[in-house]
Amino acid sequence: MELHDLLIAVDEYIERLCVPREKVFEQALRDAAAAELPEIHVSPNEGKLLYLLAKISGARRILEIGLLGGYSTLWLARALTADGQLVSLEINQHHAQVARKNLKRAGLLRQVDIRVGPALDTLKEMRRRREPSFDLIFIDADKEGYPAYLKWSLRFSHPGSLILADNVIRDGEVARNGATDPVVRAIQRFNRDLTRNKSLETILIPVMRRKLDGLAIARVKQPC
Ligand code: SAH
Ligand code: DHB
Ligand code: MG
Repeated sequence: MELHDLLIAVDEYIERLCVPREKVFEQALRDAAAAELPEIHVSPNEGKLLYLLAKISGARRILEIGLLGGYSTLWLARALTADGQLVSLEINQHHAQVARKNLKRAGLLRQVDIRVGPALDTLKEMRRRREPSFDLIFIDADKEGYPAYLKWSLRFSHPGSLILADNVIRDGEVARNGATDPVVRAIQRFNRDLTRNKSLETILIPVMRRKLDGLAIARVKQPC
């Protein structure tokens, strides 16, 4: 079997075993497709991984940058206890509308605070209001914005916080030298910033989608 097909087959195998089909998740994807949102949500397996990371870390305040139809949001929000909160930043009003409906159906809208606007503006406003830090931050909006989102994530984190980011492998293009695509270059820069930062401990893990992509997992160290 060719490597690509093997990876897809293994991903499907993992999904069959680890991600039982659930109405709210499947309906969320169907509604997002019907509303003509781009199909760029995290995969079911990656969603389950986000859920487990949130659960294991005991996150009570989660920040998501890039909501789309709220599919990753469903996974993260369901890891929260009843007093937990998730703030999600989204530039597109239509995406936010679709996400609200999906979260409401799952009974999770009460815990999710959707803020519509360019994420950088919202983050600045949040700092002006001295909003508290987050235990987990998931970066998944415009890729050119990633280096700036990392700076903001560090401002809004505390020792022990997790900083996660989707799409850090980009079909392996990040591993090639001399990339010219601005998106690939921005992700390379982000991956470098993340891994060189002395206050973080980081791993990038490959995640299979239609193509190979990946998730960054960084933990803010305790001061020593
Ligand atoms: N996390 C989602 C997918 C997000 S796709 C999931 O896995 O289900 C990226 C989203 O980021 C899109 O909805 C897009 O509209 C939004 N986005 C793009 N640029 C943005 C910006 N500058 N500020 C906030 N959101 C942005
Ligand atoms: C794509 C995938 C993503 O997960 C994302 O956040 C943005 C774009 C893509 O495949 O184009
Ligand atoms: Mg993504």
